This record gives sequence, C-alpha cells and structure tokens, in this order.
Amino acid sequence: MTPIKNCIVNKDTRSNPIWLMRQAGRYLPEFREIRKNNQDFVKLCLNENLSSEITLQPIKRFGFDAAIIFSDILMIPFAINQDVKFEKGFGPKLGNLNIDVISKINEIDFTNKLNPVYNAISLTAQNTLLKDKDLIGFVGAPWTILVYMINKMSPKKGIPENFFNDISLLNNLLFIIEKFIKLHIKNQINAGANIIQIFDSWAGLLENKIPEYIYNPTFNIVEYTKKLGVPVICFPRGIKNYKEYCDIVKPDMINIDYEVDPNEIKKNIKIPVQGGLDPKILLTNKNNLKKEVEKYLAIFKDHPYSFNLGHGILPETKIDLVKELISIVRNYK
Ligand code: CP3
Repeated sequence: MTPIKNCIVNKDTRSNPIWLMRQAGRYLPEFREIRKNNQDFVKLCLNENLSSEITLQPIKRFGFDAAIIFSDILMIPFAINQDVKFEKGFGPKLGNLNIDVISKINEIDFTNKLNPVYNAISLTAQNTLLKDKDLIGFVGAPWTILVYMINKMSPKKGIPENFFNDISLLNNLLFIIEKFIKLHIKNQINAGANIIQIFDSWAGLLENKIPEYIYNPTFNIVEYTKKLGVPVICFPRGIKNYKEYCDIVKPDMINIDYEVDPNEIKKNIKIPVQGGLDPKILLTNKNNLKKEVEKYLAIFKDHPYSFNLGHGILPETKIDLVKELISIVRNYK
C-alpha cells in the first residue's frame, strides 16, 4: 500500500480527501452531550481525555480523512495570561490586556500551561482510528490573535478606528504572539500533529498594512513550520488577493473561503487548494448540495484539491447532509 499520511496536502489529482473545519463541534449530538456537563470551554480544551475523545467523534461517525485536534486558537492568549471565557450566545470574551504580565511569560510556563493540549494530541495520534489519517494541529495567525487580544471579543462590527493608535503596543504584542505561535506549533508537532493549519479568520478586515500585519508575520510562521518538516495550510478568510498571499506567504496548501470565485483560484494559483463550499449549503437539501459540491469538484478536477468548507461547519447542520456530502465527494468521477 502507498503511504497515505499527509493525504490532505496531496499533490495527487486523482482523489479528493475530505475533512471539515470545526468538524468536532456543536452539530454533533455526542459533542453537545459532553459540552452539557462541561460548561467551561477552556477547561474542556484542557481536559486531555475529553479533548481526544471529541477530536475522534467525527472520525468515528463519518470516517473523515483527517482529524483536527479539539482546542481553540484563543488558547494562546489564555496561555500568556490574558483571561479567556466563552459565553453562550456571545462568543469569546477576553480579559484586560496587561503587556507587563504578558511580557513576563516564558516558554516553560507557556508549555506547561498548554501541556494538556499536547497530551491530547499524543493520545489521539496513537489511536488506531488515525492509523492512515492525518492529525492536524493548528494556530490562529498573528493578525487574528492580535485582533482578539486588543478587541477582547469577535470583531463582528469591524475593527474600531482607534485600533492602530498605539503602534508600539501592537508591535510589542505581535513580537510576543509570533514567538508563542511558533512554540505552540513546535509542541504540537512534537506531540504528533503531522500537518499545521493557520487560521486567519479576520484577514478580510484589514485593508492597508497587509504586509506588516498579515504577510510578514505569517510568512515567518510558515517558514518556521516547513523547517520542522511539516506541511502548512493557510486560511486567510476574506483576503482580497489570494494569489498575492500565496506568492508571498508560500503555504503548502491554501484553504479558500466561500466568497472567492473558485474559477479565479484555479486559474491563478498553482499550489494545492482546500475548501470553498459555503457552510450554509449544508443547511439546504441533497439536490442543491450535490450541485454545489460537484461545482467545486469539477473546477478543481485537474488540480490537487482537498474537500472542505469555506468556513466552519454551522451548529444547525444536519448529520444526514454531512453523510451525503461525504458520499458525493467519494463517489465523484
Ligand atoms: O475544527 C475543529 O473541529 C477543531 C476545533 C476548533 C475550535 N475552534 C473549537 C471550538 C478550531 C480549529 C477552532 C478555531 C477557531 N476558534 C477560530 C478559527 C476558525 C474560524 O471559525 O474562523 C476562531 C476565530 C476561534 C475563536 C472562537 N472559538 C469563537 C469565535 C468561538 C465562538 C463560536 C460561536 O459561534 O459561539 C469559539 C468557540 C468554539 N471553538 C467552539 C468550538 C467547537 C464552540 C464552543 C461551544 O460553545 O460549544
């Protein structure tokens, strides 16, 4: 048998592996069952046995080609001592930002604080369910982490005008964030993650200063990860120019969002592509799903393409349509 590890970042155009962003989450009754008894989300992410179990839930149920460790991008602010809470119906709520406290965190403290995440990865990597499958570790991109740390909640209404007032604070923070993102990646790889995905969920909010806040810091992280011998997938949600992003940041694979025209991507981008389908399509019906999924599969027929969504799966998604999606992708010729 040919080795199948690293199948997600595949260079093969004959198959389309599939996994879904946020595949371990609220659309699964077995996740909701665990969540019911674990109200504190950060604590749940730090429970290595439950984190591993949740990571494997969608693999058991659907047989996806890759697992992504159950954790959160906001575990980095948490580990450098900014308070992080998740409130039902509101989302993340971060505490006061104290640059003096944050500057004092050293690498040992950081690693100790996130040790349960690394233990969860080791536990999961050893599970026979993942024998021929990838285990994806992940981080938030520096820009997206910076946005959460300064804004202290999801910037759903955009970033405030005064965001760039204190440039030296932003630069200090960015420097610290980049250092700990790298450490978090190294620790996840040492624990058994064999691919890293970088989520830049708020890349689309930035109009100027893209080189300073997105390209340069993300390039540094991509380069660092490649040196560790592990492929990197980038997801710069909402970025206007995917080609420029790929040319400068140089990920091994690019996850596209659902607003970008896949035909343009196919035409302009040479590296393997992942994702694109609007997660709302999974709230419609089987016929519509087939039409939309086959659109992506047809466009990327002669291009290395791994099936995924253009953003995380929605909590309202029905299990049956996820099953149908996998069957459409696997039976496509
Ligand atoms: O993909 C997976 O299955 C792995 C786990 C994972 C989670 N969050 C678990 C989670 C991953 C990869 C993330 C990434 C993440 N977290 C991102 C980047 C991707 C994206 O969606 O843009 C971001 C921006 C976050 C920050 C975050 N975490 C937000 C905004 C929220 C609230 C979401 C909401 O709708 O209320 C979370 C909570 C979170 N992270 C949940 C899960 C399963 C839901 C927790 C719950 O209430 O049960």
